[in-house]
Amino acid sequence: MSSNPWNPEQYLKGTMGDLRTRPVFDLLARVPVDTATSVYDLGCGPGNSTAPLKARWPGATVTGIDNNPAMLEKARDSFAGITFREADIGTWEPDDPADVIFANAALHWVPDHARLLARLLGFLRPGGCLAIQQPNNFAAPSHALIGEIARDPRFRDRLKGKLLGDFVQDVRFYHDLLRPIADAVDIWETEYAQPLNGADPVLEWVRGTALLPVETNLDRDDFSAFVSVYREKLRTAYPVAPDGITLFPFRRMFIIATGTAA
Ligand SMILES: C[S@@+](CC[C@H](N)C(=O)[O-])C[C@H]1O[C@@H](n2cnc3c(N)ncnc32)[C@H](O)[C@@H]1O
Repeated sequence: MSSNPWNPEQYLKGTMGDLRTRPVFDLLARVPVDTATSVYDLGCGPGNSTAPLKARWPGATVTGIDNNPAMLEKARDSFAGITFREADIGTWEPDDPADVIFANAALHWVPDHARLLARLLGFLRPGGCLAIQQPNNFAAPSHALIGEIARDPRFRDRLKGKLLGDFVQDVRFYHDLLRPIADAVDIWETEYAQPLNGADPVLEWVRGTALLPVETNLDRDDFSAFVSVYREKLRTAYPVAPDGITLFPFRRMFIIATGTAA
């Protein structure tokens, strides 16, 4: 299996692109930066989170950062006027102090949040802003079932410590980390009641994200066996309503921290 199997078409398929992009606007609405010259979008994916940054600060140099070539190719094809660059968030550094460092649905893929967030805050100019949204849906059946099936003896040796969600901490952790080193901290959570259509829509959703580490670490036959068990459990956890809609509640955590004044 591919070591980096992100697929922009699967990620944005149908209404999923809109649903995945909505938190970008909810996060952006709370960013307290009027004028900016240097804006970065970490884990920019296909550019769906980067384009709204360019619209908000049209005069700024806006740069999307990602480590997946397929995502970057899609972003470059979709959005002219924005620079997209390949780099790993864990080691990335901006060219100049940043006005805004934005990361929508990206940092939960990167380890050691204590070190990472302190590092990113240090890249801001005084008064600049670090704005993060990450899923916090790991206790919901969509994600908990992956953990449950991964403990099966057939899979557990290859999936132990490899699943999405291991890096995300609770709200108190982020508040206590950022409050002493930022001028202001604003943290909140929202649960979106996402209406999905079609057959096995939660499986389709998760295929674009949380199932990727499972796909990466199992061979084709075992991944297929894993998905068969998972599909059945999802059908019970997320029933289809008579109108054809499957409701998929999804919890997300938002964090805004502003850099300390000089
Ligand atoms: C769920 S997508 C988010 C895409 C977009 N920001 C959005 O709002 O929908 C996560 C993206 O983070 C990227 N990513 C994951 N780990 C990364 C890392 N260590 N360095 C750079 N990019 C990373 C993936 O390649 C993927 O494109």
